[in-house]
Amino acid sequence: MLTIAVSKGRIYEEALPFLEQAGITPIDDPDKSRKLILQTTRPDVQLVIIRATDVPTFVEYGAADLGIAGKDVLMEHGAESLYEPLDLGIAGCRLMTAGPVNAPEVKGRLRVATKYVKTAQSYYANLGIQAEIIKLYGSMELAPLVGLADCIVDLVDTGNTLKANGLEPRELIANITSRLVVNKAAMKMKHQAIQALIDQFETTLAQR
Ligand code: ADP
Ligand code: PRP
Ligand code: MG
Repeated sequence: MLTIAVSKGRIYEEALPFLEQAGITPIDDPDKSRKLILQTTRPDVQLVIIRATDVPTFVEYGAADLGIAGKDVLMEHGAESLYEPLDLGIAGCRLMTAGPVNAPEVKGRLRVATKYVKTAQSYYANLGIQAEIIKLYGSMELAPLVGLADCIVDLVDTGNTLKANGLEPRELIANITSRLVVNKAAMKMKHQAIQALIDQFETTLAQR
């Protein structure tokens, strides 16, 4: 049995064509079902539906053999404990700093709101900038508007969320796409099945 960890929403939607071309069609729709384990048209493959930020954890501990996760999430988790054989090129966006339009220069320590605490910490440390990182779990764009932070580190795609909140993108930290990740032990123990899946995903990718 192969277990693949995916999150609901955009990653699931964009990963479906890869799964389908490998003969993997989930029996239930995660948006309609309350089930967290989805059986598929391949009796040897099941999906587990989890939060995007939990995917590396499930795969690292072998609770899932494979997973699909954003590079943002992998950077923040630390990816040394996982294999990352394939960039699927899906859920593309940018990890950026952003702040209020026409903001005056910050005096003293910069306050940065983000859910990417480690990534932000090392980004500012590398620039030699003293930053206080304030951990949030969502709606980062709100923080500068209410005086919680000077700026944010968050994902930007169209820029609409920033614009709607009077913020502007500033520096690019990383270009983000979703990756296939594999548990290291599973890669050895279930090598044939996993390698076959990687090959099928690669074929799909090459057809795009
Ligand atoms: P969450 O509930 O964790 O925000 P999402 O489905 O929104 O889950 O995000 C999952 C992944 O999709 C992120 O880790 C990132 O790689 C990517 N992503 C997030 N927001 C966007 C976006 N606006 N456009 C494209 N990709 C995005
Ligand atoms: C993501 C991200 C930004 C927004 C950027 O939020 O956290 O807020 O998309 O996209 P844009 O540049 O196209 O506006 P998402 O839609 O995933 O909402 P949520 O994570 O807060 O549920
Ligand atoms: Mg989101």
